[in-house]
Amino acid sequence: MAKKKSIDKSVERRAYGLTILKAAHPRMRQLKKHHEPSIHGNKFWSSSYLLMDYLGYQGLPIGAQVLEAGCGWGLAGVFCAKQFGARVTGIDADEQVFPYLDLHAEVNGVEIQTRQARFEEMTAKELAGFDVLLAADVCFWDEMIDPLYCLIEKAVKAGVQQVILADPGRPPFVKVSERCIDKLGGQTKTWSVEGAVTASGNLMIIGSLPRKRK
Ligand SMILES: C[S@@+](CC[C@H](N)C(=O)[O-])C[C@H]1O[C@@H](n2cnc3c(N)ncnc32)[C@H](O)[C@@H]1O
Repeated sequence: MAKKKSIDKSVERRAYGLTILKAAHPRMRQLKKHHEPSIHGNKFWSSSYLLMDYLGYQGLPIGAQVLEAGCGWGLAGVFCAKQFGARVTGIDADEQVFPYLDLHAEVNGVEIQTRQARFEEMTAKELAGFDVLLAADVCFWDEMIDPLYCLIEKAVKAGVQQVILADPGRPPFVKVSERCIDKLGGQTKTWSVEGAVTASGNLMIIGSLPRKRK
């Protein structure tokens, strides 16, 4: 019988089939010496668990093209690649997050494309190549409302089939959600996860995917 790899809980945790490294992990400490994210991409934010939980419930078509916007360490995208064989691109305004994303892709045995780009820099042509747009915890200042809404609107018009945002429920996120409900047919759901990890907040969902599950 295959032996289950043991983990050192002081430096890493397991959740949703992923290995997530803590700040105390030697490789994370090494990265921290040279890479300092500056727009709150300095840690993994637990709204990503809401995305993972919802996607585990909903499923994703095998090989779906996924864009994770404001990806930070990219764990939601890593989950899609590992669980569903999704082809994932992470974009973030801050290139300092990518070494942390690359390390998490490596320890989880997947490949993720990355690109430094702000929400407002993504073109309709680029967005047309994706099936799903995901974002966790990316709307925490009022000035993020317009760029994030514009990205979502552009994505929907370009043919992206589903958009899912997750957030603890901060006021700027609520404003984006209200606009998406009003203009793009979005809906919100409260969502929470309990157990080995805990998180709670809101999902804003536009559209749906073919019901083909893994
Ligand atoms: C709170 S962190 C969340 C990171 C990740 N999604 C997570 O859940 O762990 C917000 C991320 O959004 C990125 N960000 C902020 N403004 C952005 C913008 N206008 N365009 C693209 N990324 C942005 C930050 O650099 C940061 O990595």
